[in-house]
Amino acid sequence: MSKELIRLQNVCMAFDDELVLDHLNLYFNDKEFLTLLGPSGCGKTTTLRIIGGFATPTSGDVLFDGVRINDVPPYQRQINTVFQKYALFPRLDVFENVAFGLRMQKRPDPNNPKKMVKIPEKEIEQRVMEMLEVVSLKGFERRKPEALSGGQQQRVAIARALVNRPKVLLLDEPLAALDLKLRKDMQIELKRIQQQVGITFIYVTHDQEEALTMSDTVVVMDQGTIQQIGTPEDIYNEPKNAFVADFIGESNIIDGIMVKDKVVKMYGKEFPCLDGGFAENEPVDVVIRPEDIDIVPVEQGQLIGTVTSVTFKGMQYDIIVDFRGFKWLIQTTDHCPEGSRIGIKIDPDGFHIMKKSQYSGMFGDYSSFSEEYDELDDASLTLDEEESGDAE
Ligand SMILES: Nc1ncnc2c1ncn2[C@@H]1O[C@H](COP(=O)(O)OP(=O)(O)O)[C@@H](O)[C@H]1O
Ligand SMILES: [Mg+2]
Repeated sequence: MSKELIRLQNVCMAFDDELVLDHLNLYFNDKEFLTLLGPSGCGKTTTLRIIGGFATPTSGDVLFDGVRINDVPPYQRQINTVFQKYALFPRLDVFENVAFGLRMQKRPDPNNPKKMVKIPEKEIEQRVMEMLEVVSLKGFERRKPEALSGGQQQRVAIARALVNRPKVLLLDEPLAALDLKLRKDMQIELKRIQQQVGITFIYVTHDQEEALTMSDTVVVMDQGTIQQIGTPEDIYNEPKNAFVADFIGESNIIDGIMVKDKVVKMYGKEFPCLDGGFAENEPVDVVIRPEDIDIVPVEQGQLIGTVTSVTFKGMQYDIIVDFRGFKWLIQTTDHCPEGSRIGIKIDPDGFHIMKKSQYSGMFGDYSSFSEEYDELDDASLTLDEEESGDAE
């Protein structure tokens, strides 16, 4: 887990005059599941293409096992890719789709190294069957792709990439076309496959939940730069700036002043927290997660606000509370009717203090939350309708 396999060193990529990757420095360990996470257009696919050898960086180096591979073509790298559009051969059955790459290959004859020979049929059969077992598709060898579900087709694509025994598998939003339930199953399945074959997976997604579920390491990107690298827990609990805090999960992000170690001031009031290491009276961004806020009677509240919207979510209510014009999201099992005045209490470990950044003031106010909610609901409805093939 700790051996370094790939390193990107000061990698920049420009298209025309636009810098889409800005001095990336990043390493990937052997047998690691690493996810590049960020909004559309932040440079994830470009990064993956550079690692795979489908694009050459404008400047900077790509190292594999310490050797510079900038100019090594894709097929000579020990790296394979599963694309989002996984394009199986429609006329070939599952077995032949997976075997295809092996049938094309030639390698030195063990008895006469100067002679190039095909991989023997027996070995092909054994390797294909082994991979179909790994992706849980044994028994499907003779099916054509059209007779497979989306998730099964995706697994054929993964088997096809793995059968070449690469050291690294690159996956670019491979689950994006699947519906939610299948996507969740495949997330678990992919993680299991990665552990079973014991190679490095470099995964690209814009879905933060997916990234947190599967990864050993998450790299959060925005506008061609790395915002944070860490374990899913690090990224969630200790976001480095307002961009990361907003992108990963839900966050109220409030202007504050770090009065001194362990005391932060918001809304003119001092709150005990656990953070330190800031200058005296340094302006900061304060992150408070919606699940870390307790609702208390008004007279016991550290802050008092007005509930402006309530959404029932099954396990809890999402309520929006107005504190002097800044709207917070609070997740609670208590029912608080719209319009009611409530007090809130936050334990010291419920605060996470961040340095001011270029992202300060851009995120963390839930004023437009209800509208976003409606849009999200609409979007998931249309998706469901499109994807449930048996709907009338
Ligand atoms: N071949 C290309 N020519 C010009 N611009 C490109 C090319 N490929 C990507 N870009 C631009 O680079 C930026 C990053 O793209 P991409 O890496 O695909 O982002 P992501 O995968 O994170 O959505 C985008 O602004 C995109 O328009
Ligand atoms: Mg992309």
